Amino acid sequence: MKPSKGGYKSHLIYSVGIIIITFLRQAVCLENGLARTPPMGWLSWERFRCNTDCENDPDNCVSEQLFQTMSDLMITDGYAAVGYEYVNIDDCWLEKFRAPNGKLVPDRKRFSSGMKALSDYIHSRGLKIGIYEDFGNFTCAGYPGIIGHQYSDAKQFAEWNVDYVKLDGCYSLPQDMDAGYSEFERILNSTGKPMIYSCSWPVYQIYAGIQPNFTAIRTHCNLWRNFDDIQDSWASVESIIDYYGNNQDIIAPNAGPGHWNDPDMLIIGNFGLSYEQAKTQFAIWSILAAPLLMSVDLRTIRPEFKEILQNRKIIAVDQDVFGIQGRRIYKHKGIEIWSRPIAPLYQTYYSYAIAFLNRRTDGTPSDVAVTLKELGLISNTGYRVEDLYENVDYEILYPTTKIKVKVNPSGVVMLKAEVQTNRINQLLVKKLDFFSALN
Ligand code: GLA
Repeated sequence: MKPSKGGYKSHLIYSVGIIIITFLRQAVCLENGLARTPPMGWLSWERFRCNTDCENDPDNCVSEQLFQTMSDLMITDGYAAVGYEYVNIDDCWLEKFRAPNGKLVPDRKRFSSGMKALSDYIHSRGLKIGIYEDFGNFTCAGYPGIIGHQYSDAKQFAEWNVDYVKLDGCYSLPQDMDAGYSEFERILNSTGKPMIYSCSWPVYQIYAGIQPNFTAIRTHCNLWRNFDDIQDSWASVESIIDYYGNNQDIIAPNAGPGHWNDPDMLIIGNFGLSYEQAKTQFAIWSILAAPLLMSVDLRTIRPEFKEILQNRKIIAVDQDVFGIQGRRIYKHKGIEIWSRPIAPLYQTYYSYAIAFLNRRTDGTPSDVAVTLKELGLISNTGYRVEDLYENVDYEILYPTTKIKVKVNPSGVVMLKAEVQTNRINQLLVKKLDFFSALN
């Protein structure tokens, strides 16, 4: 519809207003408006590492074919349909030296069509592309880092239409990171191409004994690593769960729409986790509001692991609109309870995702019995409780109701408790809305 003259005027005022607000937001906190919920996608590192041997291992080397194949499978096998969107290249995509003009060069053999062609391929599937670089002199695997080339590298990523940049921190000084990581965020923004910015800033500072400035980190980064690289084992997953539980008072408050803690990739479907353990990683990562970055061979993943990765109910917990990171609220004799406030909210009462985790190794499922009140669920309107892995509906339960679950060793039971709205109040609100509309 063509706007009227007055319409043009108000449209102009509106547009100027938006420009001013956008400018102010950028000047105050450099928000790039991205990652309102934790990013979801696929990342090569944990599963494919730095395999550059395309001659002997063409199907598994880090190459354009690998990323094309994974993009195709993300579509055909239903991952994109449940929210996985980014196809992220990790280390080892580069030539060992820059071009004479200083530009980064993707490996000439393994990425022979060039990065723009791969980016176009991924975008043509409706997906987005992520790339890896390093704040220091070299990437962790020894390829050229961005130091001294920040402007031209950011411009290069924008020209390749990159949507996501992971900036690692090997071969750099942790005390330079406050300035360096925030500067690169400004440079990325100045390209005009929106790019999610994934930082390793806090983890390297923590290793160096420096207390990270999380206020700055969450202002400049969309996500960041706090702890060790994940490895293909339950011990590694447990160590990450413990780190996030033990340090939750410092870590959890920093998460929110646009800025997330990154406990590292999902290793579900690889060699190291049992079925129960894979369910646990997915449940706890969703409680942690973690980025869901699968690092698995989508060509050979077993159906039961694929089913975990595509569990829409648990993905919805991870992607909850409030973006509040959950916490460990109980830990005793190998039993843990993790809880996350989620939508819908009724008055001051949140709904909750609850994960009961059994860390015991005595080989038999453990019973856990607890009242809703003990879990902090105190709304007298009650909660509709359902199991997010099994098809069990507990129907409406009240704060004094005791619920009992059986949790398998190294496994979880994951529940959602949706707060019920008081019907009489709802009718009142509707009536008030009706009268205020009349006035
Ligand atoms: C570091 C990062 C990993 C991965 C490797 C690549 O160890 O933490 O996630 O990117 O570098 O070399």
